[in-house]
Amino acid sequence: MALVIHEDTAADAAQIGGKQPVLAILTVDDDTQLFRGNRSNFADIISTGRESGFIVYVLTVKKLKLNRKTLDGFTFEAASENWVQRKFPFPDLIYNRIPLREDELQPEVRRKIAACMKHPGVQIFNPKFFNKWSLFKWLRQSKTTKPYIPETRRMLTVSGLGKMMLQHKFLYLKPVSGKAGKGIMTIQLQPEKPLPYRLKIQGNKGSTTYNCGSIGKLWTRIKKESSGERYIAQQGIQLAALNERSFDLRTLVQKNRRGQWDISGIGARLAGSMSITTHVPRGGSVEDPEKLLVSVFGQDEANKLLNKTRTTALIIARQIERGSGRSLAEMSLDLGIDQDGNIWFFEANAKPMKFDEPDIRQRSLERIFQYSSYLIKMKGH
Ligand SMILES: Nc1ncnc2c1ncn2[C@@H]1O[C@H](COP(=O)(O)OP(=O)(O)O)[C@@H](O)[C@H]1O
Ligand SMILES: [Mg+2]
Repeated sequence: MALVIHEDTAADAAQIGGKQPVLAILTVDDDTQLFRGNRSNFADIISTGRESGFIVYVLTVKKLKLNRKTLDGFTFEAASENWVQRKFPFPDLIYNRIPLREDELQPEVRRKIAACMKHPGVQIFNPKFFNKWSLFKWLRQSKTTKPYIPETRRMLTVSGLGKMMLQHKFLYLKPVSGKAGKGIMTIQLQPEKPLPYRLKIQGNKGSTTYNCGSIGKLWTRIKKESSGERYIAQQGIQLAALNERSFDLRTLVQKNRRGQWDISGIGARLAGSMSITTHVPRGGSVEDPEKLLVSVFGQDEANKLLNKTRTTALIIARQIERGSGRSLAEMSLDLGIDQDGNIWFFEANAKPMKFDEPDIRQRSLERIFQYSSYLIKMKGH
C-alpha cells in the first residue's frame, strides 16, 4: 500500500529525526472485546498517525508497564478488518481516550495515570475528564473568562434553589458528571400562573413537563428525578433560535504544531423542536454556524460573532488548562449565543466526540500529531 504523507505533517515528523515517534492511545481493558472506546475513532487516529510518520497503537491501562521497553498493544489490520495484538515500543506520548468517567476513577487507573505524569520517559496528555462544577470555579477566577459564565451554583438545598430563582426566572439543572443531555432539567417561574413552577425533564427524544404549586413540591420532584447525582443549577440563557428551535455552537480547540491553543473548527447544533438541549441523538441537527447566525443576526453581525466566538474559545481553553493544573491538548466547548448576541459558556469536554463535519474531523486528527511532534521536538531540546 502506498504511504500517503500529508505535506505539513510529514515535515513535522521528519524534523524529529532519528527514531520514529510513538504514540499510544490509552484506554481500559474490556472482558469481551479486548478494550473499550470508539473503535472507528481509534482506527482513524492510527491511520492519520501513520501518515504523519508515527507508530500508533491502542494500549490498555493494564498493559501499560512503565518499566518495559516494549508493550502489548492493539492495532487495526485493514486486510482482515480485525484488531490484533502486537508488541510495540514503549510510547513517547500517551493520548488518554479512556471513554468512561467510572473507568477513569478506578484506583488502579488513577495510579497509572499519576505514575505516567511523573515518568520522565513519557508525556501524557488530557489526563482527566472535566467536572462541570470545577469548570465554573476555574472560569470564575479570571476576569477575562468570568463574563461568559452563566451564574452557577451547586444544587444542594431547596433554599439555595429558591434564592437563585429570585434572580433568574429560568434555570438549567445539570448533573456535574453528565453528558449528552442526560439528566438535564429546566425550571421556569411564571408567578402569574396558579401553578407557577414549570419543570421540564429531558427524555430521550422530547421533554416531559410538570407544573408545581410550591417550591417544596418542585424540590421533591427534582430530587426524585436526579436520583442521587450531584447537580449544578445554572442561570438559563435565552438562546438565539431559528423557528423557535434554539441552537448552540460546538467549538473544537486543540494545540497546534507550535504548542499553542488553536481553533480546529466550529459546528452548530439546532435543538429538536421538543427538546431543551441541542444533542443530535435527542432530535437535534448538525447545521452550518454561519448560515444560522446570518439568518438571525444578518451577515455583518454574524461575521463579528464568529470571530468573537473564536477568540472567546481560546481564552476559555487557556483558563481551563490553567485551572486544571495539567497539560491538556484538546477540548470541545459548548457555547451559546443569546438573542442579544452575547456569548455564553455551557461546558467543555476533555474527550471531544468525533465531529460530524468532515473538514473539522480531518483537521482534528491531523492536529493530534502536529501537537505530538511539537512535544517531542521540545523534549529533544
Ligand atoms: N444555562 C443554560 N442556558 C441555556 N441553555 C443551556 C444551558 N445549559 C445547557 N444548555 C443547553 O443544553 C445543552 C447541554 O448542556 P451541557 O452543559 O452541554 O450538558 P451535556 O454534558 O449533557 O452536554 C447545551 O448544549 C445547551 O444547548
Ligand atoms: Mg454538552
